[in-house]
Amino acid sequence: MGVLEVVGVASILPFMQLMAEPDAIEKSRWLNAIYEFFHFENPRQMLIYSGIGIIALIGVTNLFTIFTTWLRYKFSWEIAHQLSVRLLRTYIHKPYNFYLDNNSSQVNTYIISEVGNLTGGVIIPIIEIFSRLFMSIVILSMLVFVDPKVAMIMFGGLGGAYLIIYLSQKNYLKRIGVLRIKTNLLRYQSLQELLQGIKTIMVYNKREFFYNRYSQASWEFSNIQPKYNLLLSIPRSVLEFLAFGSILGVTIYLYITAGNIQSAIPRLSLYAVAGYRLLPAMQKIFTALAKLRHNYPVVDKLHNDLRKSHGDYKMTETIKALPFKDRILLNKINFKYETATRPVIKDLTIELKKGETIAFIGSTGSGKTTLVDLIVGLLNPGKGQIIIDDTPLNASNVKEWQEDISYVPQEVFLFDDTVASNITLGIKAEEVNRKQLERATQLADIHTFISEQLPDGFATEIGENGVRLSGGQRQRLGLARALYKAPSVLILDEATSALDSITEKSIIESLQKLPQDLTTIIIAHRLSTVKHANCIYILDEGKVIAKGTYDSLIDSNKSFQTMVNLS
Ligand code: GTP
Ligand code: MG
Repeated sequence: MGVLEVVGVASILPFMQLMAEPDAIEKSRWLNAIYEFFHFENPRQMLIYSGIGIIALIGVTNLFTIFTTWLRYKFSWEIAHQLSVRLLRTYIHKPYNFYLDNNSSQVNTYIISEVGNLTGGVIIPIIEIFSRLFMSIVILSMLVFVDPKVAMIMFGGLGGAYLIIYLSQKNYLKRIGVLRIKTNLLRYQSLQELLQGIKTIMVYNKREFFYNRYSQASWEFSNIQPKYNLLLSIPRSVLEFLAFGSILGVTIYLYITAGNIQSAIPRLSLYAVAGYRLLPAMQKIFTALAKLRHNYPVVDKLHNDLRKSHGDYKMTETIKALPFKDRILLNKINFKYETATRPVIKDLTIELKKGETIAFIGSTGSGKTTLVDLIVGLLNPGKGQIIIDDTPLNASNVKEWQEDISYVPQEVFLFDDTVASNITLGIKAEEVNRKQLERATQLADIHTFISEQLPDGFATEIGENGVRLSGGQRQRLGLARALYKAPSVLILDEATSALDSITEKSIIESLQKLPQDLTTIIIAHRLSTVKHANCIYILDEGKVIAKGTYDSLIDSNKSFQTMVNLS
């Protein structure tokens, strides 16, 4: 594009020479050569044909510009896509505690919005700088070739002015760039929270508070934009003034030195056309530099997140399960959340045998969920080890260990898809094991509901986060999902708390009929849920204060007796 534009600009000189001086062909070696080459009959014919030629050239240049623009955007957005999915790959592989310490909107904002800013504010400007810089340098060289002095003045004037403006804006651009990221994040965050809490917001009539939270963030964000746009456009006005001034100045200069203005017209035209091309090119370079400066904090942030990732993660999900034959040993494990001051789990040692059912009970906040998060490898103990048979759990085998496990967390995660897809977690319809699906839903006591009450049975869409289901139905879908996987370890964290006692009892009884080697860990507040467990551990502030079967605890433990009496 640069080459074409330069040829277009350069062709003005001989054309104007032809026009202004009838004897130009005799005077110029170049014009003479062209005249001879095309066998023109007279200068007039040459003038007309070269005029048509130049028009055609400008046409081609502009067509080519369209093409390169398309190419440029295609290239940039391809990078944007690559970057966006690479970021997601990085985030999705971050340790679980990353999500405890960061607001999830951050990930959302970076992957979608900031990658877009990176494209528009960094990648496209870099390409812009290269193409315009090339063009500017060639046009300038041409001017130097024609008249070094004028070229130096032109370049010195334009370049110097841009440089001064850029240097004076540079720090401010960066500062508002950092602020822009922050306020953009707030916008996303407040909106996401508003939508998640819509039910509470409606009932408590707190629309105004949450509306203002978004409005405030949006206002701060929108405040930055006009400042930024103003900074980008200031130099243009200054430079246009300078350029017109200098063209006039050069005219006067040439008039004085050349004596007659007629012979100066070709050159003046060249300067005018060169200026006409050079000015926007330099303006674009300036804008690109300013955009780069403003958006550099995005590069910093995203680069930082990508750099901290460990290589390029594979997305394959076929992982071989860790062989689990005999026992899980929690050996003196300690755990403290990074943002907390006190440890949640203290020197805990527990052994559970394969095929057993154990239960954790204890007051709220005593560390039960934290403990199972440690067992499933979502969190890593600060001290101590989790040992599967004889294999200590570590970063390299945790995925294989998780293949053995089905975990029904306190809050069942559901997504806007069909019932079947929610249970199988995205297995393609034709690959679903129908028999297993039926069995899992029967065990979780949700089969009748799905097949008789849902309009499309297993193909019914359940809405965002399962809004079209009741709390108990959601929990039973979570259970069905856990059972569909046919795990060797089943972990239920308050997984039946939303069910009525009769439904819960029947589910717990059918779970007991499952294959003998299924190891089950149950957390429950309702004691009837854990009655049949081989061993019940009572947790208090991260320590086991008592353990035993239901009956032995009733006999021996005062606080357990109180719990039973209360329930
Ligand atoms: P219930 O589910 O209410 O019965 O409690 P639990 O026994 O499951 O407690 P859990 O393991 O969830 O929490 C134990 C302690 O860790 C509590 O004091 C929590 O406040 C604290 N805690 C839980 N999650 C986090 C976290 O992500 N960061 C920090 N700093 N503390 C946490
Ligand atoms: Mg809990």
